[in-house]
Formats: sequence, C-alpha cells, structure tokens
Amino acid sequence: MSRAKPQAVPSRPAPADAIKHFNLDPSVVFLNHGSFGACPGVILDAQRAVQDELEREPVRFFVERLDELLATSREALAPRLNVNANDLACVTNATEGVNAVMRSIDWREGDEILANDQEYPSCMRLLERLEHEHAVRTIAPTLSWPIRSPDEVVAALLAKVTPRTRICLLSHVTSPTGAVLPAATIVHELRARGIETVLDGAHAPGLVPLDLERIGAAWYVGNLHKWLCGPKGGAFVHVRPDMRTTTRPPFVSLAETGSRLETDPFRLEWDFQGTRDLSASCVVPQMLAFLDALCPGGLGELMIRQRDLALRFAEILRNRLGTEPMLPESMVGAMACVALPHDPDPDRAAHSRTVPYHHPLQARLVEKWGIQVPVIAYPDESSLLVRVSAAPYNSVAQCEYLAEALATELGL
Ligand SMILES: Cc1ncc(COP(=O)(O)O)c(C=O)c1O
Repeated sequence: MSRAKPQAVPSRPAPADAIKHFNLDPSVVFLNHGSFGACPGVILDAQRAVQDELEREPVRFFVERLDELLATSREALAPRLNVNANDLACVTNATEGVNAVMRSIDWREGDEILANDQEYPSCMRLLERLEHEHAVRTIAPTLSWPIRSPDEVVAALLAKVTPRTRICLLSHVTSPTGAVLPAATIVHELRARGIETVLDGAHAPGLVPLDLERIGAAWYVGNLHKWLCGPKGGAFVHVRPDMRTTTRPPFVSLAETGSRLETDPFRLEWDFQGTRDLSASCVVPQMLAFLDALCPGGLGELMIRQRDLALRFAEILRNRLGTEPMLPESMVGAMACVALPHDPDPDRAAHSRTVPYHHPLQARLVEKWGIQVPVIAYPDESSLLVRVSAAPYNSVAQCEYLAEALATELGL
C-alpha cells in the first residue's frame, strides 16, 4: 500500500538507549512490542549461525545436533519457569501450542470449556471448531470493565462453573487490555473443583516473573518471541508431568522410527515434527544472556523496570486524555491500557475494508504521526483503548508524543 504524504507534526522523539541493539526502523515510534515482539540484532546473528550450521550439513544437523541444541535451550529456560526441562515441548508460536494442547484432550459430548471475553480471537475460533467437532460448549463470561480487583475476575469465572465444566482456557496476560490475570488463584480454585486449566501465556515470559510449579496449571503455553525478544517462531508448552503421556503434538511424524539416540517418547514426538526451521528455539541461552545484560539485576529487574514504565505511560496518557484507570496497578505488566474519551471515527464500519489496521485512528497514527500502537475496541465497538508497550527500547518522550498525537486526533 502506498503511504500517504506525512503532514507537519512535531519531530519524532528519541527512543531509549537500548534501541541500539534492535533493528527497528528509527523513523517509527514503535510502541507495539506486544503484538509481535522485536528481536535484537545479536540474537538474529545467533539464529543465523544455527541456520548456517543446518545448511552446511543438513543430515548431521537433524540427526545429531538439533536434539542437543533444543536440550540446551530447554535447560536454560527451565529455571526461569521453575520447571523440569524435560517437561517442556518446543512449538513455533502460542497458537500452535494452544491448538496442540486443546486437541490432545479426550473431549466428551457436553463438556464445557470455560473462557472469557478477553481471550485471544484465534483461541476463540479454536473453541468454536472444537464445539463443532466434539459437541462441547464454550462458556465465556464477560469480565467486569474496568476491572477493580483480581478477585472480580476469579469470581466472574467461578460463577460460571457447572458440573460439566471440564477445562478452562485462560490468558495469563490478556491480549486486548494487557491485564495480568490472577492465574495461580484461578488454577487452584478450579483444580479444587476437578477442572484443569490451559494457561495461554503468549505475552507472559519476560513480562511477568513465572513460577509454573506454583501456578500448577496442567498446561502452560508461552512465546519466546514477544517479551523474551527471541526470533519469530519460538515458543514452548510446559506439560505437567501427570499430563505428559496424553499430551500429543499436532503432527504425527517420524518419532517412532527415528534414528535418534533419544528414548523418551515425549521428546521423540515433540522435538521432531517433520523438517522445519526450529532455529528460533535454539537460541534461548543467548536471548536470556542478552536480557540479563540490559540491567544490573538481570531479567528480573528488567521486568520491574518495564512495568514501572508502563504505569508511567498509563498516567501520562490518562492525564492528557482525561480518562480513568481501567485496571488496578496489581494487574499491570509491561503494557499500559488506556481508555480514549470517545471514538473519533464513529462511522468506521464504512472504513473497515479500506484501512489495514483495526481502526482508522490506528492507521492515522501510523501514516501521519509515525506511531505504531494498537487501537482496540473493547469491551464494545464504541469503547476504544490504546495498549502501549513499555519495551527495553521505549522512552517516556515517545509516550508523551503519543499523548499529543491522540489529543490532536481526538480534538482535545
Ligand atoms: C493471549 C494471546 N494468545 C495467543 C496469541 C497468539 O500468539 P502467536 O501469534 O504467537 O501464536 C496472542 C498474540 O498476541 C495472544 O495475545
């Protein structure tokens, strides 16, 4: 698509110093790390080295080397999640992980799946498919909005439990609002009622500290390419040991007949699902070393800094736009979710097929102001939010510039 000629707007603000590590376009005010992440050049180089090794000797790579590289990555990741490395399976993204888990379950007609109105659209589509395939039913209560406390979420979900509820599919960090849900409490309350949870942690690794042992979910799916800044195509599923034998990968492959030295059926099945590029999952040690080096306290401190920055972003935007907080501070991670006071394009249905973004305002922010930030309609079509990411390379000046851009576009 051809870009509209930019109009006169204030000059673009500087990002934070860490931008030097990333390959991001310097002319873009990139406040949307949340959607697809961004990967530092040094990690892309490490991935490239793995790909080069593969191409130098493909047979040796797949027969001997890939298992070794994946094991090293799992060993590096496991202590950050407080799990046993051998219970981690490699997938290419959260979508694949959630599909694999949900399709491994031996559904019975009439089973109910508990979700909620903030679940990711592709996961909701998967639930619709399961409804058709297995005659199961999805129950998706609307969460209160604004959310005043984590307990409101727990109560909204528990109120919908019935004797037929079998599985809960829950985002650890929700997509439309970036809310960090009280995962451990929900998992424990549901388990006490005989219900297992699939935690969709697409955004969570690198955004919130993770102790999967404590959370106790039967399955936890996480992306490496969002807040751990990995290359695209790296993700994992943690399978609680009692679910290991029944949780199967999406593709049936060579596992049983393979020439590999591995003997664990779980490893054999999950680690080779046909020929594909798993290099993104082979560079976890380098990714963690990169993130640890960004501040003296390592990744733990980085997560605290990102959250502090997101809280500051939320305050800057709310002050300029004159809106109220949508989430309690305890539910904010590295993404600030701020309500807009009104919709500047109320007749946007007419635009829906003419702009490539969710909302014409988002398209204008890109074209006119050079800002990448998602504009999201939630909880209904007439209520708009911006979800602003606070990644290592983002600065307060960028958020102030966004606040001015929004105020101008909204006529404030
Ligand atoms: C909660 C949630 N689940 C799943 C996904 C899908 O992630 P991916 O595109 O990496 O498969 C996303 C993407 O942002 C998400 O926010």
